[in-house]
Amino acid sequence: MKIIKTQVGIIGAGPAGLTLAHWLKQKGISSVILENRSQEYVQARVRAGLLEQNTVDILDNLGLADRLKKEGQEHHGVYLNFDGQRIRVPFGELTGGRNITIYGQQEVVKDLTEAWQEAGETLLFETPAIELEGIETGSPKIHFEQEGGRGMVECDFIAACDGFHGLGRKSMPKDSYKEYEVTYPFSWLGILANVAPSSEELIYAYHENGFALHSLRSETISRLYIQVDNEDSVENWPDEKIWEELSIRLGTKGWKLNSGPIFEKSITPMRSYFIDNMQFGNLFLAGDAAHIVPPTGGKGLNLAIADVKHLVDGFEDFYQNNSRKELDNYSKIALKRIWRAQDFSNFMTTLFHKQDEHGSFQYQLQKAKFDYISISDSYKTTIAENYVGLPFDTFMV
Ligand code: APR
Ligand code: PHB
Repeated sequence: MKIIKTQVGIIGAGPAGLTLAHWLKQKGISSVILENRSQEYVQARVRAGLLEQNTVDILDNLGLADRLKKEGQEHHGVYLNFDGQRIRVPFGELTGGRNITIYGQQEVVKDLTEAWQEAGETLLFETPAIELEGIETGSPKIHFEQEGGRGMVECDFIAACDGFHGLGRKSMPKDSYKEYEVTYPFSWLGILANVAPSSEELIYAYHENGFALHSLRSETISRLYIQVDNEDSVENWPDEKIWEELSIRLGTKGWKLNSGPIFEKSITPMRSYFIDNMQFGNLFLAGDAAHIVPPTGGKGLNLAIADVKHLVDGFEDFYQNNSRKELDNYSKIALKRIWRAQDFSNFMTTLFHKQDEHGSFQYQLQKAKFDYISISDSYKTTIAENYVGLPFDTFMV
C-alpha cells in the first residue's frame, strides 16, 4: 500500500484546495492534494469567472497571477437593468478603489495546477479519498484509491476542499453542525459564445420574462445567462431562441446585443446552503464543501478563497507558535463572511429574478428597491462594497 506523509492532507483540486496548497508552501508547510477526477476534466469544467479584489490580491501575492493579470479584465463598475431601465454602480469611487476582475475559474484552476506540478509537488488525479480515519486525533489519515489499489495519506490535519458532494462534510459527526438550505424555484441556462461582448461591464437584468446576465471571458468570447424553469432542458433552447430572449431581457434604449455561435450550453440549479460549523477535531472544510451560494453576484469562488485565508492563518499559528487559537476560531471567522455573502447573493437573486407574476406584490418590492438604488448613493455603496468583496479586517473576531 502506498503511504504518503505530509503536514496537511488536502482533498480536492478546485480553487480552494489548490490555493491552500500554494499558500501553505509559501509558509513552509507541506501538503499533498488528492483529486477524484482527471486533470482534463477539472480544467475543462466551466464555472463562473468573477474574482473579487481580495482573490486577485491573494493570487498575486502567491506569484500565481501572471496570466490573470495579462488576460483577465478589470471592471470598474456594473450595470443593473430593471424593466429596460439601466443604471450603473461604479466601484472605484464608492469602495476606495476596489474592483473586480473577470477571469474564468477553470483558468485559475489551470494556472494553479500547472504551477504546483512545475514546482514538483504532489497532486494525484483520479485518486478519490474514500475514508477518513482518526479525525479527532493528532494523526488523521486519508484512505484513497488509485488505479484499483489503495493508499493512505498520514498527516497532522485534513483539509476537505472537496466540493458540495465531497467526503469531508459527510465525515463530520451529524450532530456537530446544523444545516441551512434554500432551493430556488428557477435555474440558470448559461452559454459561452464566440462573439465580442456587447458591453464592457456586466449587466444584471430583471425583465418580465425573467432574469438575464451579460458577462464575458475575453474580447472575442461572451458569457451569458438566462433564468429558466427547474424542469427545463437545453434541448428546449435552440441558439436563435436564446439570443432572442437575451436580447429582450437585457434590452435598453440605444443598446444592441451582438449574437454569434454558441459553443457551450448548460443548466445550473440555484441553491443557498451552508452549515454552521466547518471543523471537527483536525478536519477542516473549505469552499463548496461547506457552503453554496446562488451565482448571482459571483461569490462562490471568492468565498472558497476567503476560507483558505483563515485556514492558512490557523495552520501558520499552529506550526509557528504552537497554538490552536486561530485554528479553533476558523469556523467562527469564516462564517461571518459566509453569512454576509449568503445575504448578498440572496439579495441579488431576489432583486433580479422573476419569482411571482409580473406586477405582483413581490414585483413591486423588487421595483421599489431598484428605484431606490437608482437615486441613492448609500444603497449603491452597499452594493458596490459587497460586490467587490469586503476587506478581510471587516470580519475579525
Ligand atoms: N476525493 C478527491 N477529490 C474529490 C472528492 C474525493 N472524495 N470529492 C470531490 N472531490 C473533488 C472534485 O472532483 C472537485 O474537483 O474536489 C474538488 C472540489 O472543487 P470545487 O467543486 O471547484 O470546489 P471549491 O474548490 O470549493 O471551489 C468553489 O467552485 O463550484 C464552484 O461556485 C463554486 O466557484 C466556486 C468554487
Ligand atoms: C460569469 O462571468 O460567469 C459570472 C459573472 C457574474 C455572476 C455570475 C457568473 O454573478
